Amino acid sequence: MKRLIAPSILASNFLKLGVDIELLNKSDADWIHVDVMDGRFVPNISFGMPIIKAVKTIAEKPLDVHLMIVEPGKYFNDFKSAGADILTVHYEACPHLHKDIQTIHSLGMKAGIALNPHTPIHLLEEIITDADLILIMSVNPGFGGQSFIKESISKISRLRDMIDRTGSNALIEVDGGVGLDNAKILFDAGVNVLVAGSSVFGSADPQDTIKKLKSV
Ligand code: DX5
Ligand code: ZN
Repeated sequence: MKRLIAPSILASNFLKLGVDIELLNKSDADWIHVDVMDGRFVPNISFGMPIIKAVKTIAEKPLDVHLMIVEPGKYFNDFKSAGADILTVHYEACPHLHKDIQTIHSLGMKAGIALNPHTPIHLLEEIITDADLILIMSVNPGFGGQSFIKESISKISRLRDMIDRTGSNALIEVDGGVGLDNAKILFDAGVNVLVAGSSVFGSADPQDTIKKLKSV
């Protein structure tokens, strides 16, 4: 099974963002995870289009853009223009999720669906074969550096069963409180993509941590 690492630049040094992107370019990271927060869907505000555009000019890995915003459909075109390769919207923010997934695809991006910790996976039953990625939030979204919610592990196992049963091609991504202490159990539960912010950028050697996360 695919094992990918997507470091989150939310935990990078914004004063030296270019240096941190170059570091990821030269690392074993597969994607660059980009957290967009609007202060409405989540209590925090992060960054938007100008930063993503700047990152895109030097990034050598796909931009995995995680939208924690209300009415994300208003901005799909803008995120495509800014350089998003994978665009993930929250289930909780999309009353017309099927249409949103189709629109993301029509713009030439991969489409992901994120679930908050309280949102059950059975709600994905009718959409699972349309998605390229399911992002399981293992913290309540809004901030980096939070503690991993351990119930996420059984949720991931049940999602793995659903994906295998339905023949969906969706990858499973887990986001929040992920590090060397839980990477193995997450891969074993069926995760394909680990998002890691603090555990990568807060470590003494981010490139070595990425390598270790990949080979736990
Ligand atoms: C949280 C974001 C995460 C965050 C993860 O709302 O979606 O991607 O950057 O940070 P860590 O790895 O520090 O929990
Ligand atoms: Zn994220």
